[in-house]
Amino acid sequence: MKEHRTDGSGAVEQPGAKRSKRFEALDNRPVNEDGFAKEWPEVGLVAMDGPNDPEPSVRVEDGTVVEMDGREREEFDFIDHFIADYAIDSERAEEALAADTVEFARKLVDVRTPREEIVELATAMTPAKLAAVVSELNTLEMMMALQKMRTRKTPGNQAHVTNVKDHPVLIAADAAEAALRGFDEIETTVGVTRYAPFNALAQTVGAQAARGGMLTQCAVEEATELELGMKGFTGYAETVSVYGTESVFKDGDDTPWSKAFLASGYASRGLKMRFTSGSGSEVNMGQAEGKSMLYLETRCVLVTKGCGVQGLQNGGISCIAIPTAVPSGVRGVLAENLITTMVDLEVASGNDQTFSHSHKRQMARTVPQLLAGTDLIFSGYSSVPNYDDMFAGSNFDSYDYDDYNVIQRDLKVDGGLRPVDEADAIRVRNTAAKALQTVFRDLGFPRITDEEIEAATYADGSDDMPDRNQAEDLDAASELMESEITGADIATILEENGFEEMAENLLGILKERVSGDYLQTSAILDEEFNVISAVNDPNDYQGPGTGYRLGGERWEEIKDIRQAFDPEEI
Ligand code: 5AD
Ligand code: CA
Repeated sequence: MKEHRTDGSGAVEQPGAKRSKRFEALDNRPVNEDGFAKEWPEVGLVAMDGPNDPEPSVRVEDGTVVEMDGREREEFDFIDHFIADYAIDSERAEEALAADTVEFARKLVDVRTPREEIVELATAMTPAKLAAVVSELNTLEMMMALQKMRTRKTPGNQAHVTNVKDHPVLIAADAAEAALRGFDEIETTVGVTRYAPFNALAQTVGAQAARGGMLTQCAVEEATELELGMKGFTGYAETVSVYGTESVFKDGDDTPWSKAFLASGYASRGLKMRFTSGSGSEVNMGQAEGKSMLYLETRCVLVTKGCGVQGLQNGGISCIAIPTAVPSGVRGVLAENLITTMVDLEVASGNDQTFSHSHKRQMARTVPQLLAGTDLIFSGYSSVPNYDDMFAGSNFDSYDYDDYNVIQRDLKVDGGLRPVDEADAIRVRNTAAKALQTVFRDLGFPRITDEEIEAATYADGSDDMPDRNQAEDLDAASELMESEITGADIATILEENGFEEMAENLLGILKERVSGDYLQTSAILDEEFNVISAVNDPNDYQGPGTGYRLGGERWEEIKDIRQAFDPEEI
């Protein structure tokens, strides 16, 4: 907090000095519970345009990048090597670096320059060049650019589905409600690690009660996550982390090559996947090598590109408190989302982990991605109260549902959600809970009681749920993991016990794993299992009259909030 001065001389006031009631009131505002720091480039505490960031440069000899951003090939670290060899279009690299930075930045904003034209050169740029280009844009210009550059025309949204008790019945019910409310993807994680198979199963079963085409994820340690996917308990993954300095990579016993290997593990099993990175991780690990967060994050974006992965979750993510503590940090996070789209990757644009106590700041941080639209505007909107969000809380949670629906309606913007009727929410929650009870009974897992179903149907959060015997649950969860049981067995159980529609929905997701269509960039599924991706729904924004336009049935749905009075009913 600022030192308190009264005489205008800049002298620090003595303790016990008389305080301004105005400043005292301000000190008590939520924003002053947030942490702020002045820039400190030596440790990487600078959002963009760091004084030690390299100048953009490239030299290509016989198709090989032999110099990049001021470093000769002999001096490359392994990230430089990987980017130079796999991420950059070496045929056009010299042309891309020769492009005037300001002129290219203008093209990004210019509605008449088509997206493809940007992508062609952006995919030949070095990290320093990409960072230099976006640094020319102010926040509003970045939003204009993002609106054009996101890969899929239709925007989407992702939710967290977790609770502190790892209560499977509540996870199933909340997954169903999240699906009903319109999220394209839902992800769970655990309080207790060994619960992972149960949380994944409960979420996947529950989601089927609301609609077809829901993609589900369980964010846990990488090997477990891959195994859950292979068993058919999840449909996608996004927690393969990449970092912007070699030292941080090595700290995790990883390299870009090991990440590429892991990525191909998912792809070979027909699982959609994206990587995760975000400004601040290198500062957090104390190994930023004096570079700005945006420059390092751009290296992460290009490592992702080089791995052949279709997309990236970035925007600070778990490190969001770090960029948002420094000047232009929220803008820097928007810049990293934008760069991701410029190199033709799907972006799940953060707005997940809690970073501020101020509601106004929470909203301001979300405005750019919400108004521009991204592939997944939130890469983790908490579909549960924040006390149950096991990803350390989210910027928006279930208590913000009505605000969010009203904001979509106020601004006529598609944020990916829709208002729902209380009766519908209760119905799908109940069906999800009952279906999970049946699955547990059939597999001989610890009993799910009718009281638990009743509680989960009407619950707000885990405080409303009776406790389960965790030891028994954990034993059964381990058993499930060691067994040969797959998603197809779960679909069979649903089918044989009166949950035919849910069985169809689950089978539908498993079939996608075989066809592989949803491995295309930025693929989501609609209720009828149609793939909507950058391939069949490419973003063609070129100003008014083009791109995604909110209208028709979707607008009717967004308009129809339950709180509005209806003149026809008077
Ligand atoms: N950089 C890299 N990985 C991150 N994760 C979260 N934030 C970042 C970041 N800034 C990863 C975590 C975990 C998952 C939730 O996302 O390491 O795997
Ligand atoms: Ca996420």
